[in-house]
Amino acid sequence: MKLWGGRFSKPTDDLVDDFHSSITFDQRLYRQDIAGSIAHATMLGERGVIPKADAEAIVRALREIQADFEAGRVTFALDAEDIHMNVEKLLIERIGDAGKRLHTGRSRNDQVVLDCRMYVKDACAEAAELMGALCRTLISIASEHTETIMPGYTHLQRAQPITLGHHMMAYFQMFSRDMDRMRECRRRADVMPLGSGALAGTTYPLDRERVAELLGFSAITQNSLDGVSDRDFVCDYLYAASACMMHLSRFCEELILWNSHEFRFVEMDDAYATGSSIMPQKKNPDVAELIRGKTGRVYGDLLGLLTTLKGLPLAYNKDMQEDKEALFDARDTLVKSLTVFTAMLSACTFNTENMARGAAGGFTNATDAADYLVKKGMPFRDAHAVIGRLVLACEREGRALLDLSLSELRAYSELFDEDVYDACSMRSCVALRDVPGGPAPNRVREAIDQARAWLDAFSM
Ligand code: ARG
Repeated sequence: MKLWGGRFSKPTDDLVDDFHSSITFDQRLYRQDIAGSIAHATMLGERGVIPKADAEAIVRALREIQADFEAGRVTFALDAEDIHMNVEKLLIERIGDAGKRLHTGRSRNDQVVLDCRMYVKDACAEAAELMGALCRTLISIASEHTETIMPGYTHLQRAQPITLGHHMMAYFQMFSRDMDRMRECRRRADVMPLGSGALAGTTYPLDRERVAELLGFSAITQNSLDGVSDRDFVCDYLYAASACMMHLSRFCEELILWNSHEFRFVEMDDAYATGSSIMPQKKNPDVAELIRGKTGRVYGDLLGLLTTLKGLPLAYNKDMQEDKEALFDARDTLVKSLTVFTAMLSACTFNTENMARGAAGGFTNATDAADYLVKKGMPFRDAHAVIGRLVLACEREGRALLDLSLSELRAYSELFDEDVYDACSMRSCVALRDVPGGPAPNRVREAIDQARAWLDAFSM
């Protein structure tokens, strides 16, 4: 019989057991569920809501159940529906009446939120750790390449020269924001809901603060209806995961481009590329493509849950059971993607000569040439027009700006002098961008120092 079978005169149809049971996926919460029950039982015993001896027997048996499950000695049953009732059923089978007292002053509605909050707290810490490892990899690549010139792009057209170090540190900014989001998400999940009951609290004198303390929560929920129907913290995690996947995906897109024969900026390590079953010459960046592809499913997890929640009246509705597969899928995808991405990136070889050639070839110093004329006294708009005409002519002849002799340059403006060759060299173009946040090597080294200090000080 079901734990709730009292008012029923017929067993559940097998189709329904199969349809509504969540044990196939929520057994992943067994550790959280058991920890929550141990804290609840401990508090019930301390407050005299149940006999102390019963509380002790419950705690002992729950620990055994956990060990037995981990050793593969117990299996969960589909007809016991979910992790909460499976654990409770096993408990009652083992210790009888004492076990039947565990659910006093509690509902699966507050129990499931408790489990999910504990899961999300761990998932946030885990994600931030992996993001931190990626950030350290970025810093190490950046510090080797503060002088490595490459073209920076807008509209995927070569725009201005930057360095590979500066480019890597842009990603540091993105992933450090992701770490920050995970920390914030963990902070919001860190609120203890037990005591909300099914929706309206409970008549027992529960010590909610004590349960929070036993489980390491910083606060307790403030409204019993909200306590059981709030899934914002899951949405927060799904958004934080989506943002990080979006960053990984953009990075993957760049690596895929850079790895192409058209760019040849990067060589993927053989261990992170795959071949073609028909074309013998191929070495494909499948890992990067798959991360880019999986970004879509994590967005799907977020949008799916937001949509599930949008029409729900207070308080608990079974629709909410849909939160877990989304959460688990996003967590698994994020963890795998971050792990393989960091390994793949560490194993990439950067082709710095091609990067330098790319920067030199695309008129990336045109802005600097205009700035040169401005420094010699020409208004910027006029300088822009002069260099524009110069670029047009060079493009027709297949030459770069500095391929022109001084007399050729002077045909466009008298202000050109011998020092233009140095002022508009790739190296100067980068070094002169000496503003906070800019690509000048000393600024990037400064950014790297700040990044290291930030990472060292980061804690959840
Ligand atoms: N398996 C359920 C879930 O994941 C647990 C809560 C069930 N509560 C209920 N009243 N049916 O949401």
